[in-house]
Amino acid sequence: MKARHKEIYTSLAPVYDTLMADVDYESWGDFIDEIIQTHHHNPIDILELACGTGSLSISLAELECYNITGTDLSPDMIEIARDKASKFEVEAEFFPMNYLDISFENKFDCIFTVFDSVNYLREESELLTFLQRTHRSLRTGGLLIFDFSTPRNSMESVDYLNENEGDTGQFRFYRTSRYDAKQKIHYNEFEIEELDPKTGKVINTFFEQHKQRAYSLSEVLSIVEQSPYHLVAKYDGFDLIDATENSARVTMVLRCQTPQ
Ligand SMILES: C[S@@+](CC[C@H](N)C(=O)[O-])C[C@H]1O[C@@H](n2cnc3c(N)ncnc32)[C@H](O)[C@@H]1O
Repeated sequence: MKARHKEIYTSLAPVYDTLMADVDYESWGDFIDEIIQTHHHNPIDILELACGTGSLSISLAELECYNITGTDLSPDMIEIARDKASKFEVEAEFFPMNYLDISFENKFDCIFTVFDSVNYLREESELLTFLQRTHRSLRTGGLLIFDFSTPRNSMESVDYLNENEGDTGQFRFYRTSRYDAKQKIHYNEFEIEELDPKTGKVINTFFEQHKQRAYSLSEVLSIVEQSPYHLVAKYDGFDLIDATENSARVTMVLRCQTPQ
């Protein structure tokens, strides 16, 4: 059976949480909470961009001190996020939305996006547009928090990610991963098989190709300099430790200082 090519995070949506089973979203949520509390005096309205199936938004909503809104490009991921919020009985709203085209009438105290989501922006000009667009949706004094993965992270993780497979009972998936160090592009390719619940036979096969750009810290700092933001901090990994050019994952904290 020929695999059908799909938009990213459509056929992957039902297997995403299985694929990420090893990720400790609760600790990641605590890290984001720590950053918000360290750098904002009265954070209330929080927007997560590229929230996927909502695990981080839900973990922050469980703290019961924020109004949480989560958005993602993929309506399939958002549907799962809504189901999870209702299952865990947490107050969080989820909407499909492109993070380059944020459209809310109200502004936020904090906007965040993590887990390499901005690495999908492969051009530096797109990353600058992302900064400009998010800035419009923040209150003065508000924070933008985003992480990005660096070439070191791609080089270190590619063997672990390659030839990875899993099973949800209803779906089987295979991932291959390669990193083009010259172009700084990380490719993850997924084949997803949908199984007949009665016979276990494959009834559909889907294929998604994900391309992400690895950014160095100096590249991102130079884009931030061109943006309307003030740099507050850059953290290495999951600690409040200053990032360096050698960091594998960097979490940036930027402040909106000027009213729009
Ligand atoms: C690696 S997943 C991370 C999801 C979630 N943040 C998490 O921690 O599990 C990347 C997410 O970025 C989303 N994404 C990619 N491009 C986007 C865009 N232009 N606007 C909004 N979301 C986007 C995808 O749909 C996907 O859910």
